[in-house]
Amino acid sequence: MADSPRKPSPAAGGSTRAVHAGERDQHDDHALATPIHQTSTFWFENSAQLRDFAEGRIDRHEYGRYSNPTWQAVERKLNELEGAEATVLTGSGMAAATTVFLALLERGDHIVVTNDCYRRTRQFIQQTLSKLEVTATVIDPADTIALKDAIQDNTRAFFTESPTNPYLRVIDLPEAVRVAHERGVKVIVDSTFASPINHAPLTDGADIVLHSATKYLGGHNDLIAGVVSGSAETIAPIRALVGVMGGILDPHAAWLLLRGLKTLGLRIARHNETGLAVAQFLEGHEKVRRVYYPGLESHPDYKVATRLMKGFAGVVTFEIEGDLDATIRFTDGCRIPYIAPSLGGVESLVEMPVLMSYWDYPKEERLQYGIKDNLVRLSCGIEDQADLIADLAQALDQV
Ligand SMILES: Cc1ncc(COP(=O)(O)O)c(C=O)c1O
Repeated sequence: MADSPRKPSPAAGGSTRAVHAGERDQHDDHALATPIHQTSTFWFENSAQLRDFAEGRIDRHEYGRYSNPTWQAVERKLNELEGAEATVLTGSGMAAATTVFLALLERGDHIVVTNDCYRRTRQFIQQTLSKLEVTATVIDPADTIALKDAIQDNTRAFFTESPTNPYLRVIDLPEAVRVAHERGVKVIVDSTFASPINHAPLTDGADIVLHSATKYLGGHNDLIAGVVSGSAETIAPIRALVGVMGGILDPHAAWLLLRGLKTLGLRIARHNETGLAVAQFLEGHEKVRRVYYPGLESHPDYKVATRLMKGFAGVVTFEIEGDLDATIRFTDGCRIPYIAPSLGGVESLVEMPVLMSYWDYPKEERLQYGIKDNLVRLSCGIEDQADLIADLAQALDQV
């Protein structure tokens, strides 16, 4: 196996890195595409080789729960995209988040989290971490003074999404990192909604960045995966725990992710353009009460977002001018976006959080999380912008 001559320079742009980075593990047959190593295990020539491996004299694969060459191509590509030393691939975004928490935290630790986040991450913190007596203080995403005040002697980590789900709040990460690091607190960012093309949290000082690779990284609504990136020292215990917990990715899905990643730069450029155009269209529409998109001046984090991010991707959250039924008429009226959970793929998806992620919450509790009856989350795909806007216009006519 030889290193690819096309290893991009560290100064290369996002698309060049997305296409070429990590594709070094070429076989002697000169196949251009990295193969799918669809194997559960790896054989040894003899017991001497096994001993050399066990005693660390040679580096190779052993068993498919610990490593796989197709995974490694994805991991190397993510290293180059995120500016990371190491990346570990997991079987889902939730496996990424839960394994990070379990690897990092000890019984009785404290964490600080932001109040707008993916429902299942909140559920894990509330229902599972609490069993380990891990406590959490919840703060507003923009409030770095609250972050400073929330840090206790046993605070181990500050965890946040950026942008958050569903209100797309953007964290002033350099400031949050400064505040957290002053007290020895690690900063973990779920960057699913940004993608490494729009924002690389490690370069703003975060210790760990994770993604639901199901979304923009895979990009085709056809796989579920997660990734965690950081320094080699930070990622080593997380990788070890993935091998124990077993939440790994099948090699075929890893290959689909590798293929999806090659078009990340192109897709994100399109999502950025369409997201902004759709947000502007909705903001000017009489049937829309309010739009949340970090690229609009009306968004509370517009200044931070434009300072830190290259674009704001394809998710636009908004309130319909009307009640639950009016909002249902809008979503049912959409002909291009599918009504489906998830985001970040080539197909536009639309959902009402009240009926989707939060359907089983008592009204008062979901209102605490800002989940109103008229809230819509739209993930703009890569369809033609004019077609999507025309479709939204006819669906709004039905409100
Ligand atoms: C911000 C964010 N993080 C994590 C997840 C979980 O990812 P997965 O569905 O790949 O487990 C999601 C899923 O929607 C998400 O929106």
